[in-house]
Amino acid sequence: MKQNNIKLPLIKHFFTLLFVMLIGMSSCKPVIIKEDLRIENLLKQMTLKEKVSQLNLITALDDNNNELDVIDKIKNGEVGHILKSNGAQNNLELQKIAINQSRLGIPIMFHEDVIHGYKTIFPSPMGEASSWNLEMIEKTAHIAAIEAAASGIQLTYAPMVDVTHDARWGRIVEGAGEDPWLGSEIAAARVRGFQGKDLSDSSTIMACAKHFIGYGNALAGIDYNIGEFSERMLRETYLPPFKSAIDEGVGSVMVAYSAYNGVPASANKWLINQLLREELGFDGMVISDWGTISNLIKSGNAINENDAAQQAIEAGVDLDMVSEIYVHQIEQLIRDGSVDIELINMAVRRVLKAKFDLGLFDNPYVYFDTIREKEVVLCEDHLLIARQAARESMVLLKNNNLLPLSKEIKTIAVIGPLANRKKDMMSWWGANHSQGNENDVVTLLEGIKSAVSKQTKVFYSEGVILNGFEKSGINLIDEAVAVARKADVVVLAVGEEYWMSGEGASVSEITLPGSQNELIQALARINKPVVAVLINGRPYDIRTPVAEFDAVLEAWQPGTMAGHAISDLLFGDYNPSGKLPVSYPYNGGQIPIFYNQKRSSHDFEGVNLTDRYKNNYLDITTKPLFSFGFGLSYSKFEFSNLRLEKDTIGMNETTKIFVDVQNISDRAGEEVVQLYIQDMVSSAIRPAKELKDFSRISLKSGELKTVVLDINPEKLKFYNSEMNYVLEPGYFSIMVGNSSQNEDLLVKTLHVK
Ligand code: GLC
Repeated sequence: MKQNNIKLPLIKHFFTLLFVMLIGMSSCKPVIIKEDLRIENLLKQMTLKEKVSQLNLITALDDNNNELDVIDKIKNGEVGHILKSNGAQNNLELQKIAINQSRLGIPIMFHEDVIHGYKTIFPSPMGEASSWNLEMIEKTAHIAAIEAAASGIQLTYAPMVDVTHDARWGRIVEGAGEDPWLGSEIAAARVRGFQGKDLSDSSTIMACAKHFIGYGNALAGIDYNIGEFSERMLRETYLPPFKSAIDEGVGSVMVAYSAYNGVPASANKWLINQLLREELGFDGMVISDWGTISNLIKSGNAINENDAAQQAIEAGVDLDMVSEIYVHQIEQLIRDGSVDIELINMAVRRVLKAKFDLGLFDNPYVYFDTIREKEVVLCEDHLLIARQAARESMVLLKNNNLLPLSKEIKTIAVIGPLANRKKDMMSWWGANHSQGNENDVVTLLEGIKSAVSKQTKVFYSEGVILNGFEKSGINLIDEAVAVARKADVVVLAVGEEYWMSGEGASVSEITLPGSQNELIQALARINKPVVAVLINGRPYDIRTPVAEFDAVLEAWQPGTMAGHAISDLLFGDYNPSGKLPVSYPYNGGQIPIFYNQKRSSHDFEGVNLTDRYKNNYLDITTKPLFSFGFGLSYSKFEFSNLRLEKDTIGMNETTKIFVDVQNISDRAGEEVVQLYIQDMVSSAIRPAKELKDFSRISLKSGELKTVVLDINPEKLKFYNSEMNYVLEPGYFSIMVGNSSQNEDLLVKTLHVK
């Protein structure tokens, strides 16, 4: 194997290090670490072409998922990174070419969309966010990293941290919902999970916080649409999860398809150089989204590729994802003096640092271990954790004492177009655009069959055919009704197909697609106990199943272990503990809807056909069908005795909040204690309530726990009327409970002076 020029002979390393330490001790200047010396040493050797190649990120698959031949480009030293190339053996061969057949032998970095699992697919991010379990979220990201790293991947385009208020936008499924605080906590947990404590460890991969920034603003719910939002909205709503990921050490950030202040993110100097790098202190790689540099031409911001390349590199975009504009234009821009070579050097330094941090220089083949790949991918431990994560991701929305069911039940009818589907148990990312395999998935029907007793008769009927928005299979409804009549209980699985949310999958209405509502109406007429299980990426209009049926379980897209996990809840092997990370709209007309809307001079009053001068609609309620933070359990929890350690604090003081929570049922369970605040008087309008902390607790039957949360100045600060991030003295409402609904919250007042 060719000796890498980069690798200084060991003895030289030793003296370099010794020299560096001596300088450091004598001059008290910041010690230049060995890595920086190696970067500078390598940079000095690189030609302009080799530098630009490090900014080139190519794909190994064409638009139809057919493999592209990337070997020539690697041999020509044109490739710094490859996306969509998987497998330890496959990537090992490509890496050997890069190291042995290019002049400087700089290793390639392999990227992939490892969004919620690699081969073992966990619940969709929307589902995982419903668990409010940060330890579990970190754990599943860590497992995804283990499987991906063993399969030749070093960087994932996750976590997606876009806050959104619009269920019509298909990518709502990929994020952590509508709240900046919950989104920030989850972003940090995911970065910890993917990156661990040492990026060079072969069971960790670099994370990428995306899509910077405001992509979830999606005008009219339409993906890629250019919405407008203020700097206030940017800083209050969209920025916190990115700041959280950056403070956690995320190695890369991906810029969005969208724009801010009229300038596309990929050409937005203020966003990247000022806000991201200067203000937030981010010094990692900035990656374009797919073709967003060439998109500058489509959106009319660049005359041609040369112009687009100049705008993007000057804005601070380091990696050009798949447009190959950098590799075609940058050399010319440098030669004609349009772009300063130092811009290129800075970008290349960030890339080389990422590769050093990942250990790719010290051990370029550590990520390509075929034996380890076979050991870890889809192993039993990972599947067990996938089942537990899926259990915790589900939200019990209604239960008229129908659940949990008995496993000794005599007859059960499993009905619905999603009752025996595999691929639709994973999200668009899980099913189609990463490495998840539908054949590994346990369907709901399979899960129920394996859960019930041998004496139980399980009937099945598809009910209708779910084929996109087509109203097909209505003729199957009669058979489904007949099957339902034979059973003691009906489990009905409805929702959407995996491709109906995710990227480029916006809808104008959130009506359940196809003929599902016809099936629901038919089953509602036979007066049978029905539990509706929802399999979906986004919230849908579920007023009818909620009105007609005894129980409704939001299962989201539970992943590989879907059938077992749903059955665990249906039969009580797991007590539901999920809480909604989004407001569940009453119908599509309410969108955008979110719990932390700004206070108005006119309070929300629901439906009020007489007094028109209220903050409401004439035709429907302004309240969501289900609120942010809501979720039922088989247990019953009582909140009492909310008290503050101090009712009055100074501007730099903290205080503690105590609340007693008791499980007054006969079944152990978990509860999420949520802390909301309201700044009662402020120089800029604040939301009626804002989540500022939460604690997930377990309680045995009868057990009482005192939960302690804290209030500190940071939680009370906001952007005042001058857009300064300050704490203003005054009164704050402190609200604690198990959802964002007023009726679920105990309230105290805190005076800050
Ligand atoms: C897509 C997505 C982004 C993804 C990237 C690579 O267009 O916007 O989230 O990571 O391309 O697949």
